[in-house]
Amino acid sequence: MLQEVDARNEQETSVPLQPSSEQWRSEFPHTWDEDEMVTRRSTLRFLLAGSGVLCLTTGVLAVLSYLPSGPGVQTVAVAKVGELAENASKVFDFPDQYSRAILINLPGKGLVAYRDECTHLSCAVLYQGNGRLHCPCHEGLFDAATGAVLAGPPTRPLPLIQLAVHNGTIYAVREVAQ
Ligand code: FES
Repeated sequence: MLQEVDARNEQETSVPLQPSSEQWRSEFPHTWDEDEMVTRRSTLRFLLAGSGVLCLTTGVLAVLSYLPSGPGVQTVAVAKVGELAENASKVFDFPDQYSRAILINLPGKGLVAYRDECTHLSCAVLYQGNGRLHCPCHEGLFDAATGAVLAGPPTRPLPLIQLAVHNGTIYAVREVAQ
């Protein structure tokens, strides 16, 4: 009995483990005219294109990792550096289209941003160009340098919007309660 097993094993090992280079064609009889048309040049092109995609992805991830992250961070591009003249302002959506904020280029202080919503009864505030934000609903007045209340019924300062600058773009990143 032991001898029979050995004979069978011997038979199995006599089958060549590596088929010849053309044997696989008879086992896989699908023809494809271009299966031998892959040249070194096309392989190189494929590798270069793959490297390009990887470089691009790495660049995008590097930009995203540079900007602040964490809970409450939105990273919304709001303007280009130099876009706002001194004393000019720009209203933008933040953190989404249902809520607005205002970016101001204050003389002597630079860029500041606040929630564009009065802390009294939520009317939109307007930058007056004199370092003050005005609420037309009940004559509320805020300091554009700090967001503090200067006059009127509001009792709380305007929430500050934290900004970040990267590659010539100004981003709004989060709202900071004051
Ligand atoms: S809503 Fe702004 S002062 Fe009343």
